[in-house]
Amino acid sequence: MASISRKLRRENKTIAFVPTMGALHEGHLALVKEARAASDIVIVSIFVNPEQFNDKGDLDRYPRDLTSDAALLAEFEVDYIFAPENSEIYPEGFSTYVYVEGVSEGLEGASRPGHFRGVATVVAILFNAIRPDLAFFGQKDAQQVTVIKRMTADLGFETEIIVVPTVREESGLALSSRNQLLPPEERAKAAVIFTGLREAKVAFKQGERNAAKLIEIVQRRIADEPMAIVDYISVVDGKSLEPVERVGETETFIAAAVRFGTVRLIDNVLLNRGQ
Ligand code: PAF
Repeated sequence: MASISRKLRRENKTIAFVPTMGALHEGHLALVKEARAASDIVIVSIFVNPEQFNDKGDLDRYPRDLTSDAALLAEFEVDYIFAPENSEIYPEGFSTYVYVEGVSEGLEGASRPGHFRGVATVVAILFNAIRPDLAFFGQKDAQQVTVIKRMTADLGFETEIIVVPTVREESGLALSSRNQLLPPEERAKAAVIFTGLREAKVAFKQGERNAAKLIEIVQRRIADEPMAIVDYISVVDGKSLEPVERVGETETFIAAAVRFGTVRLIDNVLLNRGQ
């Protein structure tokens, strides 16, 4: 991949990169479409990164189907699929990790220790191999976006991070590779997460600025589904990801992580875009 990418750069081609863990859905395809429109060459990586799974069961359960993923990407005129083996990314003796302090610690970081160390490390390795001009990430993983932007700036990667809005099922459920692990009945019920977040956004638009009240709105809606176990609901500053008590003028979003059985889902809604 590194030598192909070097050759492309010598030919002055612009490279757009979409990192994925496969099990592709419309959310990934939205990233691929944006990448296709923005550059000469589109590279998609498919690598289920063991370093970002703190739960071995979650890693084992993670859906994998390289053949159908590759067929799907062919329809979107992707130039290269990079699907490395574990040993290519983490060769014997591997011992260098990237940890982004601060923004990695709350929300998902608190519930999934080591997760963002794994994400930042693999994205740094992929960026080094590919050296993309642009890299595309989904807004659904808002904290991941913040971590990657911080890492890119701090380590001087010459890659611009492009964030693409969350794609949703008709019910409002955010698309995620994990959705396919939900039985159909639970999948329908999981839409309650977005319903709650949307209700909080409506309350915000009507003037509610108290974070605890906004959280309560989401909590109450999710409580309609006895199967749903809330991991967290939090109103956070968009840059620091620190919880806020009142929503001010800066970028702020409300985020939730909820379990349905063994499947853990996350979603977020921007309350205030900031200046
Ligand atoms: O968002 C994902 O699918 C993964 O976290 C990423 C960015 C591909 C890194 O493994």
